[in-house]
Amino acid sequence: MEQITNFIGRYKNYNFPTGQTTAEYIDSLQSFEIRDSDIFLVTYPKSGTIWTQQIIISICELDRSLNEYPNNFEQMPWLEYTEGREDYALRPSPRLFASHLTPVLLPPGLKDKKVKIIYVMRNPKDNIVSFYHFSKACSDLATPKNFKHFCEEYLTVNVVGSSWFDHIREWHSKRDQYNILFLTYEDMVLDLKAAVIKICIFLGKNLSEAAIEQVVEKSTFMNMKKDSKANYEFLPQERVKGDFMRKGKIGDWKNTFTVAQSERVDQLLQEKLGDLSLKFIWE
Ligand code: A3P
Repeated sequence: MEQITNFIGRYKNYNFPTGQTTAEYIDSLQSFEIRDSDIFLVTYPKSGTIWTQQIIISICELDRSLNEYPNNFEQMPWLEYTEGREDYALRPSPRLFASHLTPVLLPPGLKDKKVKIIYVMRNPKDNIVSFYHFSKACSDLATPKNFKHFCEEYLTVNVVGSSWFDHIREWHSKRDQYNILFLTYEDMVLDLKAAVIKICIFLGKNLSEAAIEQVVEKSTFMNMKKDSKANYEFLPQERVKGDFMRKGKIGDWKNTFTVAQSERVDQLLQEKLGDLSLKFIWE
């Protein structure tokens, strides 16, 4: 992997956090054997991954189809990271995976339209703010000097991951090749129960009203914050100083962005994704 900063290695147009994977392992995903029963959650970082992870796990737990793991990270590991990885071929079905990767880096077996993929996107301004705070808290990521600097790094793709714009375009434009459900963070905030029901229908889970309410309860911001299996407080303090569960709101960008920064993102959205007619909720 080519080093572009002290903190990340660039490989195949993607910036990987150093120490968490290798080029060989990423290449090996091209022959990773997918099962029809696998469920994937795909997001650009800081778009509501651990939230959706909690919803999916809570739904699958209810019909007792899951083996128990100590926390959500082990229950639904990121496919791309080698850290703590076991042999996934030995896992019982259904296997749950999370990923921040772009389509080209993931196993081609995902394209057979049987594997269920849930893709969550978040408005890019709140995404940048969330990413900024997380970068300050997480020692795996380059510490930003200030928001202005971070915003520049994000928009020029000098952060972990890919370009937010490319991630959305690549997944959205290839959606016909996959069995994929698109959700937005904002819709989940505005109506969590509706999002849970959509996910249940997509996963083919016929839950009772009471069971749906149970999943909703387990997945509220306040309850997840207290849930040590779901809130990632199990990660060592020296690695993540702050909270994965920060504010959980729509529109925090307004407290941080200057008018010029906001206009720049609007312009990039128009230039790069204007043809996709995506609608974002900004507040
Ligand atoms: P903020 O930093 O804006 O608060 P990811 O899991 O992809 O890293 O995304 C993290 C973001 O999701 C954080 O956003 C976090 O607070 C938010 N989040 C996590 N659980 C949530 C929940 N139950 N409800 C609303 N937002 C949640």
